[in-house]
Amino acid sequence: MTNEITLLLGGVMVNATPIDGQKVTLSAQSLNRHGLISGATGTGKTKSLQVLIEELSGIGVPSLVMDIKGDISGLGAEGSTNKIIEKRAHHIQMDWVGKSFPIEFMSISDEPGILLKSTISEFGPVILSKILSLNETQTSLLSILFLFCDDKKLPLLDLNDLKTVLRYASNEGKDEIQKMYGLVPISSAHAIMRRLTQLEQQGGNQIFGEPSFDVDDLCKVDENGLGMINIIRLTDVQSKPTLFSAFMLALLAEVFEVFPEKGDVDKPELVIFIDEAHLIFKNASKELLDQLDTIIKLIRSKGIGIVFITQTPDDIPENILSQLGFKIQHALRAFTAKDRKAIKLLSQNFPESDVYNVENLITELGIGEALISSLDRKGRPTPLVHSLMRPPYSRMDILNPSEINSILKKSELGAKYNQEIDRESAHEILMDRIEHMLEKEEEEEEEKEATIKTKPKTRRREKTQFEQIMTSSIGTTIVRELTRGILGVFGISTSTRRTSSKTKSKAKR
Ligand SMILES: Nc1ncnc2c1ncn2[C@@H]1O[C@H](COP(=O)(O)OP(=O)(O)O)[C@@H](O)[C@H]1O
Ligand SMILES: [Mg+2]
Repeated sequence: MTNEITLLLGGVMVNATPIDGQKVTLSAQSLNRHGLISGATGTGKTKSLQVLIEELSGIGVPSLVMDIKGDISGLGAEGSTNKIIEKRAHHIQMDWVGKSFPIEFMSISDEPGILLKSTISEFGPVILSKILSLNETQTSLLSILFLFCDDKKLPLLDLNDLKTVLRYASNEGKDEIQKMYGLVPISSAHAIMRRLTQLEQQGGNQIFGEPSFDVDDLCKVDENGLGMINIIRLTDVQSKPTLFSAFMLALLAEVFEVFPEKGDVDKPELVIFIDEAHLIFKNASKELLDQLDTIIKLIRSKGIGIVFITQTPDDIPENILSQLGFKIQHALRAFTAKDRKAIKLLSQNFPESDVYNVENLITELGIGEALISSLDRKGRPTPLVHSLMRPPYSRMDILNPSEINSILKKSELGAKYNQEIDRESAHEILMDRIEHMLEKEEEEEEEKEATIKTKPKTRRREKTQFEQIMTSSIGTTIVRELTRGILGVFGISTSTRRTSSKTKSKAKR
């Protein structure tokens, strides 16, 4: 199937002049090859992002947008025309009409929106270790603890659960765990605890827990066939790079795992836009970067496109940059000799052009103009084009608070996710389990007692302390069924994580 679906991006420019009626389009399948929108502040990146998202929504492709600056919400309202828009539309010879697009607000913090949560057990020990930058010993301890919790049917939901288990493992439960699974190095336990506390200070409690988000819910179309635009408002996350990368990695891993193989598709299933992408890469450990690199490589086959938006391509690590198939390059500023050198280098990465002098053009592009390069279906670069970007159909400004509120109120997903799970009954379930466990152990011990007269009492006491520890944590935790095939995690490569989320999301549907 080679049904080319094209997205209208703008009109062709040559010698800084629009060639009226010559349209610049991007094949929808190239979104599946990942991309980059870059340029200095104020050069038109956000508007290009808006245009891409509109075009995708128009062909029924949903998006997920990490909106760090909070400036993309205008997609939810019709744009109004003005002289500049009319002039652009005239050059491009396109019909410009104000249109609004269906949006959902999502959140991983105090920002209003559908909370995107995952439980600790869904994260799994592998991903969690990467996020926490644990060394080998610490990673294997974490894996042991997951195994222990799996065996003992102890639900690991939020950070508090994990902290409690860590505390237990380094104190009362140490002997028990060592007997069953191997060494519990106390210094490692402490190190993990410190990392967990750091993550907690960045607001980790907001992303771990229940109800856990089903990534299939990112792939909706509205009643008119428009792809949903899921905007994650991250305005307060700039100071929390670890949390942000943790969330990103977990999300990508989840998407990778849940989505079926697609191969080369005419249009992507979902496109993820990451604004201010340098935030993800800043402070990220090598481990984390490798993990990201792998996931970005693999996720293509699932029909997922990832588009980074950042000021200069230099913000993106080389191995990830080399995977980005299309580029929308807005103007860069050359203030220093270093800038000029960087631009020269950058311009050599664009396909050669008889029409344009790339090196000069990059600094001379007007606002809302860009150099666009892409790959065709065979992976060959398409001719470079200087584009006058089309004006967005939606509002070029943000929504006001009451507009945002009315979208939040209307949201069906909001009704599904933003409800407190009944902590009371959850508490009871956990209590029940522990009691049940204790009763069973007691019975077993009584049986043993009957046969062996001289039985030391220590084991019984240990369990009581265990019960105390577990009960102390559940005040703030919620229970869900523990069906994690934790062992599976060790069977797959480190590029994936748990095995059971598929079962989970199926069960939810
Ligand atoms: N495609 C476009 N059509 C019309 N105006 C645009 C376009 N792109 C940019 N502009 C103008 O330039 C301004 C800055 O663009 P913006 O996308 O916010 O820049 P950046 O995200 O790079 O800082 C916008 O507010 C708008 O007035
Ligand atoms: Mg911007």
